[in-house]
Amino acid sequence: MSSIVAQAREMAEAFLADALPRRWAHTIGVAAAAERLVGALDTVQPETVVAAAWLHDVGYAPDSADTGFHPIDGAAHVSQAAPDLWSTVNLIAHHSGAVFEAQERGRDSELARYRFPVDVEELAILNAADLCTSPDGALIDPQARLDEILNRYPPDHPVHRAITKSGPLLLAQARLVAGAAEATSPTPPTARPPASSTVLRRSATPSPTRCRRSAAGI
Ligand SMILES: [Fe+2]
Repeated sequence: MSSIVAQAREMAEAFLADALPRRWAHTIGVAAAAERLVGALDTVQPETVVAAAWLHDVGYAPDSADTGFHPIDGAAHVSQAAPDLWSTVNLIAHHSGAVFEAQERGRDSELARYRFPVDVEELAILNAADLCTSPDGALIDPQARLDEILNRYPPDHPVHRAITKSGPLLLAQARLVAGAAEATSPTPPTARPPASSTVLRRSATPSPTRCRRSAAGI
């Protein structure tokens, strides 16, 4: 594990494992998915994507939730507390359609402090990993994941409204990324266990680069 990935994992664990164990389980699954996808797609900066996957939801943690909008809370906290992880900050701020939710919450100007990631592939992989991982950390079909989010938040909630707008884009992006990974991986790259943690090894499945095509929700 590279130093920034190890540092990101350690930071995420400190923020989430005890305070928000279910969010921690989700984070472990997202990091495992990101690790598989960057391996399959030969990403230029794989460590950045995997580190961002570990950190993408730290903004939910009580110790970092300042505004209640987790992408910028997480980005702000990482940029202040972990300068070595600067390369992940813009990915954290903009992950999973944050720009749509920022509009719904009236936080456009705060999000605009963070540059939209220059490498769109990195953001697409992070988003796909997030959308292909259930709240409990299992692989899930991205449409089922979107349905789960929409069911979890009432129609007037900013998250529900944002996902209603961003959902089709995120779904297409996840399908594209997962499809590309599948197409370039005749031999599943995670037939070997991910190196990041023993919990990650439990998350590995025989179909590592695809989102699970079941309707399994929570
Ligand atoms: Fe997430």
